[in-house]
Amino acid sequence: MKILVTGGAGFIGSHTIVELYHAGHDVVVVDNLCNSSRESLKRVAELVGVAEIPFFEADIRDRSALDHVLTEHPCEACIHFAGLKAVGESVTKPWEYYENNVSGTLVLLDVLRQHHCCNLIFSSSATVYGDPAEVPITEACPKGRCASPYGQTKSMVEEILMDMQKADPLWNIVLLRYFNPVGAHPSGQIGENPNGIPNNLMPYITQVAIGKRPQLGIFGNDYDTPDGTGVRDYIHVVDLARGHVAALTAIERKCGLAIYNLGTGQGYSVLDVVKAFEKSTGIPIPYHFEPRRPGDIDSYFSNPAKAARELHWTAQYGLEDMCRDSWNWQKQNPEGF
Ligand code: NAD
Ligand code: UFG
Repeated sequence: MKILVTGGAGFIGSHTIVELYHAGHDVVVVDNLCNSSRESLKRVAELVGVAEIPFFEADIRDRSALDHVLTEHPCEACIHFAGLKAVGESVTKPWEYYENNVSGTLVLLDVLRQHHCCNLIFSSSATVYGDPAEVPITEACPKGRCASPYGQTKSMVEEILMDMQKADPLWNIVLLRYFNPVGAHPSGQIGENPNGIPNNLMPYITQVAIGKRPQLGIFGNDYDTPDGTGVRDYIHVVDLARGHVAALTAIERKCGLAIYNLGTGQGYSVLDVVKAFEKSTGIPIPYHFEPRRPGDIDSYFSNPAKAARELHWTAQYGLEDMCRDSWNWQKQNPEGF
């Protein structure tokens, strides 16, 4: 299948393109590089053994640019990663987040339908469950109030996509609700490249390991969890990438609207992650406890049975693999790309 990949130069997009090539698909990438660089796609090309990945530096809010891309490269499906994703920043810049993530998606959808490309996979997030009514979380769990404008944009785009699919059954739309993506390609050639101080746990740990930060601050040790620190469902980015390839099979069998959790089904605490990192790399991670981070909840992890049953997808990598590959990427690329 020929696939338009928006946001394909980013962390999850770049890993997904590798897996799409391995599965025999073709891609064309649109990214405005606001949180990524061309270098990631050069590395992807090397990993998959092609001269270059077809790429347009363009914004999804730019209707004529998208029209041009789809005229030159007719696509059967779109995997839509493009979006702003910093939870804290979204609280201080809500307009920018709604405009980029929601308006951008509306423009993209309009151009896609004009080009009769009505198959879409959307990068959603477990954040749409809010403080979940049940853990492990199934797709039947009702959505909750998101703690941030970022989360709201994911939830709103989901609603838009559901309404569009209901109105026009020609659309096949898969909403993938990611849990906590970490890790990097085992080659160490591509990985997560956060700007400034990392917000997320794993990149913070790898920056402590490489000596960029003195120690990890653990946000809260009084949660209702076995060791008092927050519990999450960490998923290796390569497994997540393969989840997108699997989701294309749902599109191929004309799924209409389908929603899948992509997680391992296993919750780990912050201290579990620190210990796993130390075990798999041999590097000690000094830490101290800090107050709880506003908006955090104690524990959430997925029930990934639906994706296993319907997509024949299950995560293969464990926590130590995630730590090893995150470190391998950081070590080989201390300054990112
Ligand atoms: P990322 O920032 O590495 O990738 C997003 C890409 O989109 C970047 O390359 C950025 O330059 C591009 N982009 C942003 N706005 C754009 C626009 N208007 N036009 C064109 N390109 C634009 O982030 P990621 O971690 O790879 O996340 C990919 C998607 O998955 C995002 O939609 C994110 O919200 C979602 N998601 C991520 C996580 C996570 O923890 N990483 C969890 C759940 C969902
Ligand atoms: N944590 C620390 N110290 C840090 C960073 C994080 O203790 O320096 C803790 C958090 O309090 C939490 C856990 O580590 O208990 C994981 O935090 P992350 O920031 O790595 O991840 P979140 O679960 O907060 O959120 C991530 C993404 C969201 C996405 C969500 C669900 O950042 O975009 O997963 O997919 F919505």
